[in-house]
Amino acid sequence: MSENLYIPESATKAEKYEAVIPQIEALIGGEPDLYANLANISSALKEAFGFFWVGFYLVKENQLVLGPFQGPIACTRISLGKGVCGTAWKEAKTQVVPDVDAFPGHIACSSASKSEIVVPVFKGDQVAMILDVDSDQLDDFDNTDQTYLERLMGILGSQL
Ligand code: SME
Repeated sequence: MSENLYIPESATKAEKYEAVIPQIEALIGGEPDLYANLANISSALKEAFGFFWVGFYLVKENQLVLGPFQGPIACTRISLGKGVCGTAWKEAKTQVVPDVDAFPGHIACSSASKSEIVVPVFKGDQVAMILDVDSDQLDDFDNTDQTYLERLMGILGSQL
């Protein structure tokens, strides 16, 4: 697998996801180390889409604990049901938050973060970790992001 990510220029967001997801799948498919794969997924998504922060929180005992990420430093532990991440874990459901200030209990790791999408990753029927993506623009995530990020997290979950 080449270590260069091909990102089409002047493409729609959907076209970029269509181009990037198979490359990420190839990259992680041959690598059994989870942290290496989480690191590369974070990097690829940030490089392809220019998101403010991309990373993973892993379920460890009764908390989410910060894993590999790209972006500014972030809070290390989140409890079940707390913030957007803890809500996605508790509800086992993607959260799309157009304005983080309007989300009750949002955990502000950075005041620059304006909107957010959090996608759970399942091992069997249990949430094993979550993908958190933050944008410095309001209302930056839509159905397209949800569809493709859920697809990508499904691929990751099938490797757990
Ligand atoms: N905003 C998240 C916390 C994690 S940081 O954004 C990286 C939340 O409310 O759960």
